[in-house]
Amino acid sequence: MSRFDVRKAVIPAAGLGTRFLPATKASPKEMLPLVDKPLIQYAVEEAVASGIEDIIIITGRGKRAIEDHFDRSVELEENLKGSGKGQLLSQMRHISTLANFCYVRQSEALGLGHAVLCAQRLIGDEPFAVILGDEVIDAPVPALAQLIHAYKKRHGAVIGVQEVPPHEVNRYGIVSPRTVSAGLHRVEGLIEKPSPAEAPSNLAVIGRYVLPPDIFSILRKTKPGKNGEIQLTDALLELAKKSPMFALEIQGQRYDAGDKLGFLIATVEFALKNPSLGPDFSEYLQNRKWPSRERRATRSRKS
Ligand code: UTP
Repeated sequence: MSRFDVRKAVIPAAGLGTRFLPATKASPKEMLPLVDKPLIQYAVEEAVASGIEDIIIITGRGKRAIEDHFDRSVELEENLKGSGKGQLLSQMRHISTLANFCYVRQSEALGLGHAVLCAQRLIGDEPFAVILGDEVIDAPVPALAQLIHAYKKRHGAVIGVQEVPPHEVNRYGIVSPRTVSAGLHRVEGLIEKPSPAEAPSNLAVIGRYVLPPDIFSILRKTKPGKNGEIQLTDALLELAKKSPMFALEIQGQRYDAGDKLGFLIATVEFALKNPSLGPDFSEYLQNRKWPSRERRATRSRKS
């Protein structure tokens, strides 16, 4: 094993999900389903497809459903077995074998930086990935795998970015870039939610990071910033002053599924791509009428 192998990923999931209230009052935002899988399962599958073995999920009060989702469900399995639903049974069992899961409770939602700091003991002294599960990225090469590839070549922290329209820069962390090669930039600065006039570029940080363990000592000293939260962006800015940091433009379609409109768009796109739902759903969208029974029957005979 080389010291630049990235084996562990942190998925912070202890936020309050205020943009999605009231749905998130008593249920985790991370469990909202995109067609038939909860958002957090997309993040876990992306991590696993990128070579991650250990997944540390930062949870909080009211988030028990996340642990249950990645655990065995013996009663359900018995039931599926008894009713001869073998394919569904193996799909359900597979979820609990995706990775080694660990959970750390963040007792108060003190910010994304604080959530990442909660994983320090489980990460130890090795590089690690961070995935924000509400940013779903549909890409032929998993977004995190793109970052890990760059990290292994450059040996500096790599953060995932994508271009956003100028009027949207105030919703993101924006990097001040010095271009190194096509799609790869040295991070010279980072500014959280700037106005269009202040923004040094339109390259927005989009919820994927590969970080060295040095970030933890910085996070421990990071004071609460915007909204009184310990911001990961503030710690990244400090890290960039001490060691090279890169911004990689991620290739893929990104959906901000933590936001109501973004979630709806992601739902439509994933439903249209789903082989068993797509044709009927597309017909519904075109006519705004329930697809005819005959057409559905013909399609299901063909598939
Ligand atoms: P967000 O700000 O997007 O999520 O944080 P949120 O706070 O849940 O949602 P809104 O903005 O109130 O609607 C980015 C990620 O960081 C996690 C969230 O769960 C989300 O995945 N987070 C945020 C924590 O784990 N702990 C925190 O204290 C804050």
